[in-house]
Amino acid sequence: MDPTTTSAWAGLTAHHAAVTPDLRAWFAKDPERARRLTFDAADLHVDLSKNLITDATLSLLVKLAEEVRLPERLAAMFAGEHINVTEDRAVLHTALRRPPHATPALVVDGQDVDTDVQEVLAKVSAFADDVRSGAWTGVTGERIRTVVNIGIGGSDLGPVMAYEALKAYKHPEIELRFISNIDPTDLAETLVGLDATSTLFIVASKTFGTLETLTNARLARAWLWEQLIAAGALKDDDDARRAAVAKHFVAVSTALDKVADFGIDPQNAFGFWDWVGGRYSVDSAIGTSLAVAIGPDAFREFLAGFHAIDEHVRTEPLATNVPVLMGLINVWYVNFVGAHTHAVLPYSQYLHRFAAYLQQLTMESNGKSVRWDGTPVTTETGEVFWGEPGTNGQHAFYQLIHQGTRIIPADFIAFANPAHPLQDGDVDVHALFMANFFAQTKALAFGKTAEEVRAEGTAEDVVSARVFSGNRPTTSILAASLTPSVLGQLIALYEHITFVEGVVWGIDSFDQWGVELGKKLALEIAPALTGDSAALESQDPSTRELIEYYLAQRTV
Ligand code: F6P
Repeated sequence: MDPTTTSAWAGLTAHHAAVTPDLRAWFAKDPERARRLTFDAADLHVDLSKNLITDATLSLLVKLAEEVRLPERLAAMFAGEHINVTEDRAVLHTALRRPPHATPALVVDGQDVDTDVQEVLAKVSAFADDVRSGAWTGVTGERIRTVVNIGIGGSDLGPVMAYEALKAYKHPEIELRFISNIDPTDLAETLVGLDATSTLFIVASKTFGTLETLTNARLARAWLWEQLIAAGALKDDDDARRAAVAKHFVAVSTALDKVADFGIDPQNAFGFWDWVGGRYSVDSAIGTSLAVAIGPDAFREFLAGFHAIDEHVRTEPLATNVPVLMGLINVWYVNFVGAHTHAVLPYSQYLHRFAAYLQQLTMESNGKSVRWDGTPVTTETGEVFWGEPGTNGQHAFYQLIHQGTRIIPADFIAFANPAHPLQDGDVDVHALFMANFFAQTKALAFGKTAEEVRAEGTAEDVVSARVFSGNRPTTSILAASLTPSVLGQLIALYEHITFVEGVVWGIDSFDQWGVELGKKLALEIAPALTGDSAALESQDPSTRELIEYYLAQRTV
């Protein structure tokens, strides 16, 4: 269904033309607005009332969801239908977090999905327990103190974001590090100070064919051998090298044959399936590094958090369904209000990689120009997601959100309880931090009028510079604490928001063909950088000249 042909779309267009947003007036007229537009989903308390929406906007958006058959699309995803049409695959990240013994059993394309998921989870848990207890040792018998995850995109961003978010829960003697970039600086800097005898590498790659990851894995393997041999901890022969890999390398992949080709024993590999998209995979075996850091019990709580939101989105009526409403409101901003970007502003330093994680989730999913059937989209799709933790952002880019000419819808996320309840004399620092959270959403919504500015005795020539228009939309998401479960809930919330937007736009949110061309061209260009003159000559004039400049500058 082309969304622009629905009666709801026509209704929303007319509604947008007729309504001038005025949050001050809307709140003044309607004391129930905040209560009516606040919803709970599992442990998340979500206040939508500071958005530029009325009850009429919401009912038209819900009607749009019905007309594009969102409930049917959701049901199709949960049932394992091949809704990833361009790759002819099911989309079943929701199956990764179904509890053990869930009924009815989920069998998709002949696969007993529940049994397979629980089997891998048990294997990951046993491995995590072994590393945490010291039962798993390096080749010299040292216990593992550093786990280095080598992966990129979904095989990196999820684990690193979640590890940073849940650092308060990590094993005190085990540290995680992450290598993703093929820029050799990443590997070189990440390995600084590490003792090879107590370092374990997890090579995480859904396809086990990603240039960056395999290059870094080979470099890491060479580093391991070199360090161990130099320390006299390993004989310089093939058997000894194989033994070192067996104790210092494990893998996570859907391609276990390629894992074996790399030299990692498939016994030391954790599988998953093609129906898990890379950017939806932190809750699969791709989360193995996280499971080691926080332990299998906390990892299961993390999964239970996802599942709680899955159940909410699956069963809650559209009009009170939080991910559905948030996805629809995003559509409102993108397609009717004209927003191009969406800020995510966690008031939690632990969530400092959350926006980066969401960038892959949302932009790799919904950055599309064609519909499921290959025809061009009929409206704008996708937003640029971005953000930084508060209060840092307040002293950097909030100026533009408050007084710039663009509308930037923003999600503010915060927690009632700090992980570190510090006092500055009599002052509860977390309370001060949270006062900033509440102040920002209030200032953005209600602004400051010229009269209010004048009443402060401001000189007339600077009054206009000090006026805040207000009507800058925000959603506030609060929870009691940032626990593993709550983190899982937040991730699942944004996964489903992304899905809802994709359904309205009629796109396949689960492929990513847009990253392929650059990968192919890089392989074609690489010989031109190492002396292949034919490869250099075949480049376009701009690329050729840039490469020539690069070659002329290169001294190392
Ligand atoms: O960037 C494209 C992409 O395929 C992502 O979707 C994926 O998360 C990433 O590359 C890494 O892929 P893999 O896990 O197969 O190494």
